[in-house]
Amino acid sequence: MFGSVLNKLRKSIRRRGALGTVRHAAARLARPLLALAPAERRMRRQKAERDRAFDERYGVDTGGVIPLDQLRIEGTTWEQGVPYWGIDPDEFARLLAALPVRPEEFTFVDYGSGKGRAVLLAAGQPFRTIVGVEFAPELDRVARENLRTYRGEVKCRDIELVCGDALEFELPQRPVVCYFYNPFEGEIMSRVVARIADSHRAAPRDIYVLYANPRHREVWDRSGYFEAVTVTGDFAVYRTVRTGSDG
Ligand SMILES: C[S@@+](CC[C@H](N)C(=O)[O-])C[C@H]1O[C@@H](n2cnc3c(N)ncnc32)[C@H](O)[C@@H]1O
Repeated sequence: MFGSVLNKLRKSIRRRGALGTVRHAAARLARPLLALAPAERRMRRQKAERDRAFDERYGVDTGGVIPLDQLRIEGTTWEQGVPYWGIDPDEFARLLAALPVRPEEFTFVDYGSGKGRAVLLAAGQPFRTIVGVEFAPELDRVARENLRTYRGEVKCRDIELVCGDALEFELPQRPVVCYFYNPFEGEIMSRVVARIADSHRAAPRDIYVLYANPRHREVWDRSGYFEAVTVTGDFAVYRTVRTGSDG
């Protein structure tokens, strides 16, 4: 027990430095206290009500907030992952409305698909195909069951759920919309952005990015590979930078 704590501490210091480790530990200790604040409690209650309404209406289980340290996930990437939390359907609709493409021509990829709420909502659009990538097997299993029981409108039936790390996911070599609902911290996001840029270099095509709750926009802004199409307080839409040869 003591050995495993010491191990975690060593790993954290290697990754975050001593000061970063103190900050990280303080943030984790403060979490339960913040949860007691009235505004936070009100927000959680409202979210729980909306989750329940969605799940009852569509015959699924997509609600709740699930910290990743309560799940069994291989490797250590999860330490920089964000808890499961399904996107609000109205927020998702606003995001899709800002996407300047015909869904029929695109594959929609959800990086960190969790219980599959966004995958189900995306299926209401005529995307060519849809892929959800989730590294927590327990969440992936719930998403698969949700696909089976969902009672909402479905215009795209070609849906694949991949249980694996976003860092290892190979983007299909077709026009894609990459969707992120703030799934991970900046370091993982940088590596994912680099992979998407590599995939585009290997097979130039239209790649759009829908980034909801965009905590690490700077990673996309600095990549030199993507340009912002729309930015609001709640989301950002990017696409690969057009060059003269794109026509
Ligand atoms: C905020 S939830 C978003 C859920 C869903 N995309 C939606 O919009 O409703 C973030 C999800 O990303 C997953 N995640 C975090 N890091 C990941 C990684 N490296 N690879 C795959 N999934 C990851 C978490 O397990 C969690 O389910």
